Amino acid sequence: MIRETIVTTLQANGRVHIAPMGIHVRDEYLIFAPFRPSTTLDNLIRDRCAVINYTDDVRVFAGCLTGRYDWPVCEAEHIRGMRLAHCLAHTEVRIHAIEEDELRPQLLGLPVFEQVHTPFRGFNRAQAAVVEAAILVSRLERLPWQKVEQELKYLTIAVEKTAGPHEQEAWSWLMAAVHAFRERSQETAR
Ligand SMILES: Cc1cc2nc3c(=O)[nH]c(=O)nc-3n(C[C@H](O)[C@H](O)[C@H](O)COP(=O)(O)O)c2cc1C
Repeated sequence: MIRETIVTTLQANGRVHIAPMGIHVRDEYLIFAPFRPSTTLDNLIRDRCAVINYTDDVRVFAGCLTGRYDWPVCEAEHIRGMRLAHCLAHTEVRIHAIEEDELRPQLLGLPVFEQVHTPFRGFNRAQAAVVEAAILVSRLERLPWQKVEQELKYLTIAVEKTAGPHEQEAWSWLMAAVHAFRERSQETAR
């Protein structure tokens, strides 16, 4: 099972690094699987700890994919690290083992501390659509344009029917990134 989360790590200079990342759940392990090269991977290897943040504010997912990294953070409790200030819950993790791979190593984390901050208030289809669109945006260079267009068309339905202001804002950032990408690739083709 994979949970779509926001991973916070520390850079060498002590500043927080924020990245959307799927966490694979295997037995008691919470597994990070960053594609090389990755700042998150470098930070995980150096510090051997991280925070997994659970949030329904999909602006953080869309924001990180579109150059908006300035999200409020505060200190973690049991590791040297930072967490999102407004997450629903967070888990502080230490890296227990690393399964090396040239393309995508797996870093096996074990939870050392977990805290719930705000109740989960149910699923929202527009939030799921934003997360799906954010994944598409992270793969624009590698996906056929027709597939991107088709999937966005379908995802738009949930956004139009169920989005609140946060989801609309996140969606607008992603659509701007998609249009900019499309214009760039059409210009190169001319
Ligand atoms: C929902 C979601 C899940 C993602 N999961 C992963 C992942 O498991 N591994 C990965 O390398 N990138 C993943 N990405 C893309 C990263 O967030 C993005 O490439 C980011 O820049 C990570 O690289 P960094 O550690 O260098 O910042 C995901 C993106 C989204 C929107």
